[in-house]
Amino acid sequence: MPKYLIGLCAALGFTATMALGSAFGQQEAKVAEPEELVNDEGVPLYAVRDGKVDQGTYNGYRRYASSCHVCHGPDGLGSSFAPALTDSLKRMDYWQFTDVVTNGRTNLGATGDRVMPTFGTDPNVMTNLADIYRYLKARSDEKIGRGRPERFKSAS
Ligand code: HEC
Repeated sequence: MPKYLIGLCAALGFTATMALGSAFGQQEAKVAEPEELVNDEGVPLYAVRDGKVDQGTYNGYRRYASSCHVCHGPDGLGSSFAPALTDSLKRMDYWQFTDVVTNGRTNLGATGDRVMPTFGTDPNVMTNLADIYRYLKARSDEKIGRGRPERFKSAS
């Protein structure tokens, strides 16, 4: 076999190992989930170090962007369709937040045309609700700015 072919095979083998390695890494991350940050009452907490956030908060940013941003605006700042959740979380607690997201809400005001959909049967939202809360709470507390936050490496 010519030398360059051997080199190519080695390179391909290496790529395959890397792909396997990262698939493994993802599984490990799932197993590590029970250690995530919550307080004694079960309320999710976020962590910010040097302007960087924990993995859960980062995931919350991504989930917010895919499920909530369209109505609640960029970075939780609200839009003409729906309120700024950075403001909402200054007065709502985690349980009120999960209640509205799980069950939805229709504004009973004069026009009554503002509808918060029910996400209780949407696994993309329900399995990430704690992280969405972490992200929005960090935004609401003004601990992180606008845009995609950076992640810090976990201590483990
Ligand atoms: C189709 C548009 C739409 C989407 C998508 C949407 N919302 Fe809403 N949401 C609304 C509207 C409209 C309201 C205000 C309802 C009202 O006035 O009662 C609202 C209200 C809320 C409230 C209550 C705010 C307050 O100040 O009382 C929370 C919390 C909330 N949404 C969270 C979320 C989260 C988290 C997501 C993503 C998983 C999401 N929403 C996705 C339209 C939407």
